[in-house]
Amino acid sequence: MRTTSLYSALAVLWPAACQAWYLPGAAPRSYAPGDVVPFTVNALAPAASSPGLPPSSAQGTVSSSTQLKSITSVNYYEPRLHFCRPQGGEVSQSESLGAVLFGDRIYNSPIEAHLLKNESCQHICTSSVPKEDFGYINDKIQEQYAVNWMVDGLPVATKRVADRTQEIFYAIGFPLGRQFDHHGLELKTPALHNHYEALIEYHQHAPNEYRIVGATVWPDSKDSLRESAGSKPNCGNVDFLTLDESSSGAGKEVAYTITTYWIESKTPWATRWDNYLRVFDPRIHFFALANSVIVVVFLIIMVGMILARSVSRDIHRYNAIDLDEDVQEEYGWKLVHADIGRTPSRPLLLAVMVGTGTQLVAMAGVTLVFALLGFLSPSNRGSLGTVMVVTWTLFGSVSGYFSTRIHVSLNGEDWKKCTFLTAFAFPFVVFSSILAINFFLLVSGSSGAIPFGTLLALVALWFLISVPLTLVGSFLGIKSGGWATPTRTNAIPRQIPPVQWYLRPLQSAIMAGILPFGAAFLELFFVLNSLFGTRIYVAFGFLALTFIVTALTTATVTILYTYFALCAEDYRWHWRAFMTGGGSSFWLFAYGLFYWATRLSLPGLSTKILYLGYLSLLGLVNFLLFGSIGYFAAWMAVKRMYTAVRVD
Ligand SMILES: *[C@@H]1O[C@H](CO)[C@@H](O)[C@H](O)[C@H]1NC(C)=O
Repeated sequence: MRTTSLYSALAVLWPAACQAWYLPGAAPRSYAPGDVVPFTVNALAPAASSPGLPPSSAQGTVSSSTQLKSITSVNYYEPRLHFCRPQGGEVSQSESLGAVLFGDRIYNSPIEAHLLKNESCQHICTSSVPKEDFGYINDKIQEQYAVNWMVDGLPVATKRVADRTQEIFYAIGFPLGRQFDHHGLELKTPALHNHYEALIEYHQHAPNEYRIVGATVWPDSKDSLRESAGSKPNCGNVDFLTLDESSSGAGKEVAYTITTYWIESKTPWATRWDNYLRVFDPRIHFFALANSVIVVVFLIIMVGMILARSVSRDIHRYNAIDLDEDVQEEYGWKLVHADIGRTPSRPLLLAVMVGTGTQLVAMAGVTLVFALLGFLSPSNRGSLGTVMVVTWTLFGSVSGYFSTRIHVSLNGEDWKKCTFLTAFAFPFVVFSSILAINFFLLVSGSSGAIPFGTLLALVALWFLISVPLTLVGSFLGIKSGGWATPTRTNAIPRQIPPVQWYLRPLQSAIMAGILPFGAAFLELFFVLNSLFGTRIYVAFGFLALTFIVTALTTATVTILYTYFALCAEDYRWHWRAFMTGGGSSFWLFAYGLFYWATRLSLPGLSTKILYLGYLSLLGLVNFLLFGSIGYFAAWMAVKRMYTAVRVD
């Protein structure tokens, strides 16, 4: 009972805290009775769908199918879909950079409603679908594509019941068609949804001023032209409209109809997003997360304490031996004091990777701060993507600064090459991946491919802002110079005794990665679900917390492994620290494959390659980001340990 009230309090507090900070994404728009309220349309996206609730009932059946069948989006005006087009042609709505990158393709549409006018069976248009496109539409229905409309900037949703909690939430979009009849029996041919029961919720703001605060659609399939005389559709027809490829004739006429209900709502305009945002189930979400956070924090404290105690005991012993002038043999990590400053192999690559990692850390940190302050509310479409791109561009200076400083610390002399690689290597990898992904998106006929203009904008940001800033950062880095190693390095390298299997770099990186991954994987599950689903991800508080805990875990684990390796007289800590920090990428990748196996069923080679492409990119970002955190943590530990021991 008490815990229930705790998380309901948190669940209430969180959106409330969020709202206080919402930027006025768009000024509220008021309508008068009878005003035209237009619908805009966005790209169709695959959904792990369960059918929505009929408008009348509060409880509905939820289909067992929650597997996602595709990951690419399709333009609403894809010719083979034959949706009604506006008179005078469709006009693309201007969107932010982030919205375009995340796949928004918004257009006007011929669908409209009139404020406070309940309209029944409005005929939108009749579209003739030729037989050769039946297969395409049926495929998209079977792949569970959802149609996305928007009213007054608000996405049109379906009411759904959460599997476990039986709570009603708004899932964005509504299914293109259905594979099951009203009793849950599978249809021979999928039925296309061509009739929409739209419930628009309004709130009276002032006399004669109404605001739209919610929109849901219950789509239906009606063979409405069959028994009607002429071209007037009859919405009373209860037969499904199917596009049967074995039927006679050259095609089929499909009448699109909409019935609009206006429902008064108590929700004011300011909180109209709540129904969409309440989608994350706070009880399961919070409880699971809190558990993992507690376990991880506990682990960090334990490991930290053990480490601090044994290190300080070592230091005490080493220094005591020295004081007694006792000619005892040295042991443990002190033995390698003359080698910890030895330049690792491929120092240039290491410097560039750590530099890029710091840039990503800065980007992630600032983006999360923005999110926590509520700047990334879903009413600012694409703001998350925009903030990420812009902060990444601006933090070119951070990568330049850190990579040159590390380069100098590792006795590198070619700082120009280092700067050049920092400015171009990672962006090049990302950009060429985007181009490759774009290619596969085009091949699979998706509208998610990034338009040429946006690609040019990205290149311009990269060359005109990021590269010069990297140069500036490098100059500052050169001026500051390298970090000094606390001990002098011998000319002759020490021999490294063979280490146990679990201390070899790769094995230890994989093992060390379990802990940070364990701290993050629940949140990762929610992020993936909303990325590949119809829920908006808003749990930025949880995400920020998870990021901090994961970073702390990474740092602790890396320090622990560095200590073990130094005790085993293996002084090559630089690469080891970076690899250990980035070790969670191995598990991230494995988890991505597991997610694929259990929650996605991707048809076709190009979607498989796409998924692997996205996953590899995510893994790389994770590797660099947490690798650099591990590197700096290990560096700080090494510095403190060897500053504390007395070396003669
Ligand atoms: C529209 O229909 C709904 C549902 O039947 C009803 O609750 C509402 O009062 C109607 N609105 C108007 C303006 O007639």
